[in-house]
Amino acid sequence: MTTKEVERVQVISERKNGSPPECFIHNESDRPNLDPPLGTIPIIDFSYVESKDLDQRCLEDSKLRSASSNWGIFQVVGHGIPTSYMEEIRNIQRLFFKQSIEEKQKYAIDWTIPEYTEGYGSDVVLSDDQILNWNDKLHLNVYPEKVRNMDRWPRKPETFKEKILEFDEKVMIIMDEIFKSLARSLGLDEFYFINNGTKGRTMWRFNYYPSCSKPDLVLGLKIHTDATFLTILLLDDKVPGLQVFNDEFGWVKVPIRPDALVVVLGDEIQIMSNGVYKSVIHKVVTNSEQERISLAIFVLSEPEKEIGPIDELIEEGEPRLYRKIMAKRFLEHAFSNYSKGKPHIDDFM
Ligand code: SIN
Ligand code: FE2
Repeated sequence: MTTKEVERVQVISERKNGSPPECFIHNESDRPNLDPPLGTIPIIDFSYVESKDLDQRCLEDSKLRSASSNWGIFQVVGHGIPTSYMEEIRNIQRLFFKQSIEEKQKYAIDWTIPEYTEGYGSDVVLSDDQILNWNDKLHLNVYPEKVRNMDRWPRKPETFKEKILEFDEKVMIIMDEIFKSLARSLGLDEFYFINNGTKGRTMWRFNYYPSCSKPDLVLGLKIHTDATFLTILLLDDKVPGLQVFNDEFGWVKVPIRPDALVVVLGDEIQIMSNGVYKSVIHKVVTNSEQERISLAIFVLSEPEKEIGPIDELIEEGEPRLYRKIMAKRFLEHAFSNYSKGKPHIDDFM
């Protein structure tokens, strides 16, 4: 892979000298509407886990089925993580990005060394015509424990490691409930995904979107679907930016709801459910006034697991929409196509 080092977007944005560099500017047809309608993103209440109310569980499972097939995104509430705690996590992330570039560069991603694709950085540049995201990030492998490279984890803010590991424990608990509920809603045994290698690994991406003098020309993240099974998002509670595409409503804004975790369904579940559940198309817009943060927890199958439509979900005579592919091959394909700005899931039909 030939790669080029690019400047952090934060540094570019701080120069404030008019228009963003050419490599960030999208063709007119791809430029965002900064203010589409607010989406009615479904809300799933997981308080039945605590109350053990089976009637409520049944109701929420059916809401989840409709959310997953019509939207591919939903908001999770009643998950038991206090809103004030979620704000602490956002603040740790803000503190990390507020530090000097020199401090953050201690963890700089080096795309030429395979073990160093974790850490702090911006888009990897794979081709000269690639349009870059208005985004800096900190990327860490978190689960399973054996994939953690603690030398890539920030030593400042001092509480970063401890807080993130503590949050991970809480997230893993709610993640199991989401996995169980998704399996039940598809008519599978509730441990189906947990026991067959779907809860294989998590990669955390702490996003930082500096403000941009020309938000109508750039994208924080360009249009994509996630090449995951699902992604759990902790979104900024003050600055909006995430937009999703819905077949009925078109592009809509994801509302801000500080107590919610947002779940985005990815390509793996679309493939496994034979297209019944949707991998949602989404993008991130920036604005000229405020920076924005978000945390994306990517949940993927074990690298060696073969992904394909689940036999139990295929009715007799029904065609399989996707062919089988090993999880790590699928991810590699998605990653290289994303940088070229091409969709990838259709390549496996
Ligand atoms: C994403 O991970 O695709 C978007 C997260 C965000 O809203 O910034
Ligand atoms: Fe995404």
